[in-house]
Amino acid sequence: MCGIVALILKEGQASPILHEALKRLEYRGYDSAGIATLYDGKIFVKKDAGKIDEIHARLNFDSIPGKVGVSHTRWSTHGAPTKENAHPHLDCKGNVAVVHNGVIENFLELKDELIERGHRFISRTDTEVVPHLVEEGLDAGLSLYDATVNALRRLKGSYALAIISTKETDKVVCARNESPLVLGLSDYGTFCASDIPAILPYTNKVIVLNNGEVALLEADKVTVKRISDGVTVSRDAKVIEWSIEQAEKQGYPHFMLKEIHEQSTSLRNALRLQEQYLDLIATFLDRSEKIFLLAAGTSHYACIAASYMFSKLARLAACPVISSEFIENYGDSVGIDTVILAVSQSGETYDTLKAVDYARMKAATILGITNVVGSTLTRVSRAYIVQQSGPEIGVAATKSYTAQLLVLAQIALKLAKIRGKLSQDEIDELKASLNRIPDVVENILETCEEKVKEIAIKYSKEKLFLFLGRGISTATALEGRLKLLEISYTPSLAYPAGESKHGPISVVEDGVPTIFICPNDETRKEILGNIMEMKSRGAKIISMCEEGDQKIKNLSDDVVEIPKQIHPILSPIPYIVPLQLLAYYIAVEKGLDPDKPRNLAKSVTVP
Ligand code: F6R
Repeated sequence: MCGIVALILKEGQASPILHEALKRLEYRGYDSAGIATLYDGKIFVKKDAGKIDEIHARLNFDSIPGKVGVSHTRWSTHGAPTKENAHPHLDCKGNVAVVHNGVIENFLELKDELIERGHRFISRTDTEVVPHLVEEGLDAGLSLYDATVNALRRLKGSYALAIISTKETDKVVCARNESPLVLGLSDYGTFCASDIPAILPYTNKVIVLNNGEVALLEADKVTVKRISDGVTVSRDAKVIEWSIEQAEKQGYPHFMLKEIHEQSTSLRNALRLQEQYLDLIATFLDRSEKIFLLAAGTSHYACIAASYMFSKLARLAACPVISSEFIENYGDSVGIDTVILAVSQSGETYDTLKAVDYARMKAATILGITNVVGSTLTRVSRAYIVQQSGPEIGVAATKSYTAQLLVLAQIALKLAKIRGKLSQDEIDELKASLNRIPDVVENILETCEEKVKEIAIKYSKEKLFLFLGRGISTATALEGRLKLLEISYTPSLAYPAGESKHGPISVVEDGVPTIFICPNDETRKEILGNIMEMKSRGAKIISMCEEGDQKIKNLSDDVVEIPKQIHPILSPIPYIVPLQLLAYYIAVEKGLDPDKPRNLAKSVTVP
């Protein structure tokens, strides 16, 4: 997730406005930033690594002249956060400047093709193919608009793009596919931006661009067309009544709720990983003697789910370990034959990095999954994958958890393929199921939220909750419990359901809410038994089950039904979503701020 803003003014200087607007998009990314403007027939660029304020203190963004400009604040996905990789990116001649949010999936093919035709690349980003493609169109005599449309038709993946050129200094062309982009109309100029808050101080008249649309901005008007066939789209501007603060949360009362709702998008992004990195990670794992999945908190629960995925799909044993326990528990067994797959949203968690350092010293191979390019974990890993969830502001991990699960599932599938453990039909079925996940999560968010809210209100005053699941759903039970615990401070227990009779069942008495995670997998029969066990002792049964599962529904006091179309091994992704919402609404019902739970920090960088 990055933020882009572009602007074309009738009079005045664009750069101070672009700079201010970018700062309001810093929640979308903050590892590098840049502005390019058009002045006197030339493009002027200032960009660097770092936060906007730091770069401004060094370079003074506001001094760049010109009425037209594009700007960007970055959250790295391809290429480290360096000056070269910061946007805007230019073509060979410095006549075209481009800012981009999204992932161009076919950039490697396009880059090879462009290099063969003599183009020179400076960065390691996927974005840089775009100015070179536009350059070719301009060299062939096309207008900026037509050259851009030709380039867009070559791109696969997601993008919100804004492009300026010295060939037409009174225009900005912008386009959208699966990354957000809004246009702003005002008396003194026109804008485009990744999000409304960026432009709200200047105008509240906006047009939301849809996927597959391209817009031509001129100082006094915008024209929107479809990329596929060039047909003009007529859409009235909406007047936005939100305050800037409301707009930053896109109208949601808290970042946590916004991030829960962003999951269909972050999951789509997590499906756009580069195959060669997945292959590399899977190859290292396949060749190892011992695998430890190292993480803390929510990331540890993603690792627990991954250990089931690796075993079931690839017949590979991987041991999930809490980072702070790793050295004591397994340190002596680590050696050159060990692979550590460290999972950390921030890439900066002290306990995880300490364990990683220890394992490196003992010659283990370190692999990483993180959300932050340039984080310490990326620097100490032999190979790593960036999950591409964009910054997560709510302290409770939500969208980063489901994206971690999706990345780990893709690694499990690669491993299964390398090790020849699944038939082609099984692989195809799993891939199709993986691809359906973003839509299924979108559907859950659309259909279940009201039901979950009702359940939250009904049980918000309870003093104790139990979360039970079997098999891979144990991870969902643990993560559901952690969400509730950390933001609503409600004491809760989570166990593999089969373990409950070895102790936890003693806390069950009349009315204790007991949440069962019951996807339709091989554990269902036994979970039915566990439900009856609890019910007979007076527990109130709240079930997360597959749509239409009448047996579970008959035994439950409250039910959330999850759509069917997902392979059971992927069930931790859809099944955690109602539990995230449950924790959120219980916290709100108790009058707590879910974005700022007491005593907790987003990134725990201390021992
Ligand atoms: C819980 C939560 C924490 C983190 C943990 C590890 O909602 O956010 O439990 O999961 O502190 O953080 P990372 O993944 O950054 O290493």
